[in-house]
Amino acid sequence: MNDKLQEIREKAIAQIQEAKDLDALNQIRVSVLGKKGELKQIMNGMKDVAPEDRPKFGQLVNTARQAIEEKLEEAKKAMEAEAMKQKLSFEKIDVTLPARKHKIGKAHPNTTTLEEVERIFTGMGFSVVEGPEVEKDYYNFEALNIPANHPAKDEQDTFYITKDILLRTQTSPVQVREMEKGNLPIRMIAPGRVFRADEVDATHSPSFHQIEGMVIDKGITMADLKGTLQQFVQELFGKDTKVKFRPHHFPFTEPSAEMDVSCFKCGGKGCRFCKGEGWIEILGCGMVHPRVLKMSGIDPEVYSGFAFGIGLERITLLKDEIDDMRLLYENDIRFIDQF
Ligand code: DAH
Repeated sequence: MNDKLQEIREKAIAQIQEAKDLDALNQIRVSVLGKKGELKQIMNGMKDVAPEDRPKFGQLVNTARQAIEEKLEEAKKAMEAEAMKQKLSFEKIDVTLPARKHKIGKAHPNTTTLEEVERIFTGMGFSVVEGPEVEKDYYNFEALNIPANHPAKDEQDTFYITKDILLRTQTSPVQVREMEKGNLPIRMIAPGRVFRADEVDATHSPSFHQIEGMVIDKGITMADLKGTLQQFVQELFGKDTKVKFRPHHFPFTEPSAEMDVSCFKCGGKGCRFCKGEGWIEILGCGMVHPRVLKMSGIDPEVYSGFAFGIGLERITLLKDEIDDMRLLYENDIRFIDQF
């Protein structure tokens, strides 16, 4: 019996030393120390041992059990330590790796266009001014020669705060605010947000942007208007750009015109881009109406001036070949990233 016990003990320890993983250890534990394990079986053979030798034998079995348990525990600890070591070496942080770059935002195409327009006009001596988006009816309509019952008021239906206060439909009221200050001569552009009660579609939005322009001085003529705007579009679209003025009507200018530029895609031959016209409409303009000058305290006998209004989105859509205005307002970084 003693030999048998010794054999079990040595075999178990040898197996433990060879065991590759925790599973193998567990199997050894079950087959040696378990309920039906080898040590149990040997205890069952106790009846064959002489009664006086039984306590001694029982002790021997216990010693063997303890020795095997110790070895099992040791092996388990060693395996766990090794596993941890491997895990740590695998998860080691390489502090020399370059940091992952945060994605920073990009300028909105409208912003890029506006900055370009501002650069061109400030280069010609214009200053950039701003006016309020919530405006008095007087500045938005009345002082621009659009009296209460004028049909232009219908075309520019907007959101009213009170009967006399509204969201401005155009940046033209900034002209009036500048003229009222009385610092002549004036050479200004006024970019800003405007509002109209329009449904959203590919070319309309209840809120969009305009860039107003105005020059007031002694002896300003339509030639100044033409030269200034020609210089502007040649810088914006390229030096071969030609301009064409078509008579139009705005209440606050006389005479008034719309200005077209030769298509900067086909050079004027006619293409898909200019819908075969060769020309693209880009702004409204005219000589400031004497009545408008007078209402703002400027003597039309001494001073004259020109004004123009540009749709910022319109220029952006043209320049960047975007075919739906809604894309400009969706704030989708994948769209903005393309420019
Ligand atoms: N305010 C006009 C509009 O919203 C645009 C405009 C036309 C402005 C002619 C001007 C101008 O200053 O002279 O349709």
